[in-house]
Amino acid sequence: ESFDKEGYSHYMRKEIAEQPESIRRTLSGRLDTRFQTTHIGGLEMAARELLEIRRVKILGCGSAYIAGCVGAHLIEQLARVPAHAEPASEFRYRNPVIEQDTLYIAVSQSGETFDTLAAVQEVKRKGGRVLGIVNVVGSTIARECGRGIYLHSGPEIAVVSTKTFTSTAVAFALLAIHLGRIRDMSTAHGARLLKALEALPSQVEEILAMEPHIAKLAKELAPHESAYFVGRAAGYPVAMEGALKLKEISYIHAEAYPASELKHGPLALISPETPTVVIMPRDDLFPKNISTLEEIRARSGPIYAITHRGDPLPVAVNGVIEVPKSEPELDPLLLNIPLQLLAYHVALAKDRNIDQPRNLAKSVTVE
Ligand code: AGP
Repeated sequence: ESFDKEGYSHYMRKEIAEQPESIRRTLSGRLDTRFQTTHIGGLEMAARELLEIRRVKILGCGSAYIAGCVGAHLIEQLARVPAHAEPASEFRYRNPVIEQDTLYIAVSQSGETFDTLAAVQEVKRKGGRVLGIVNVVGSTIARECGRGIYLHSGPEIAVVSTKTFTSTAVAFALLAIHLGRIRDMSTAHGARLLKALEALPSQVEEILAMEPHIAKLAKELAPHESAYFVGRAAGYPVAMEGALKLKEISYIHAEAYPASELKHGPLALISPETPTVVIMPRDDLFPKNISTLEEIRARSGPIYAITHRGDPLPVAVNGVIEVPKSEPELDPLLLNIPLQLLAYHVALAKDRNIDQPRNLAKSVTVE
């Protein structure tokens, strides 16, 4: 990609459109269809060393941290290794216990975020092993980690991350499959996942084609002062990213919550003035998410459901966006794409400075 907007009104919109290509580049040369696994050149860890890993700790800031939450789910589900993401700044300030059998992963688009760099240095100082998931080749965090996965997403100019968030999740899927295939994952499961990864670019194209419908829903959301985003399990980080995107560029107060936590507090604020975006893939937790819709509907809260194609929802909602189905573990990647377009069109309707939101910088190189 060039630094030119190439006819798009904003870099953010251009970068959203670049995602099919950006995903292809993240995948390029890394799918091993002979052994139904993935090949990650920059990992530089033999199977034996990878088998010693008992836990994974993922560190990053903002969207990089949230992509790490998606990654933690992927690693736990596909490799059955306990994994957890934490904001890099919190990690470095709480004098963390650094364990030899933990793999630390630093996530950063720019590779220059100060808090993430400091967290990497803290891990290294205490003898931990760390690898990076970074977009900018040769950046400080990439060099400090010395090994890892480059996203190859191309330059991201808009202050908000879009294509690099998606590519980071793809990179985590590659790593999770790699870790899974040297453990319990079967050849057949590996093959299904590889096929699903290859299908992602065209599935993202399908979602991008829904833009006029998403823009219509965005016009309904734009006048509201506050919104909730809820999801369960891997749907929760999708909700977190959707809320972050909306608040960054539209300045609407947006809060993400695990759907199961609604009744422990936030329900008090559900009313016709507060819409909720519900991330509800048609998976094992779908019936639970239907209950969530009922809870919100009973308080007359407007509902926007992000789900898969299927039977009509049994609860009246204000809007539905249906994305194509992937393998369940990869669903979060696709469920996130409409939320980028939703935030973009809300911000457009509110005439915000989309590429350079107030008070924000592309990369935060200070403490
Ligand atoms: C994302 O939309 C934000 N601009 C911000 O949260 C960003 O992800 C964060 O500052 C981390 O940046 P990095 O990936 O370059 O480290």
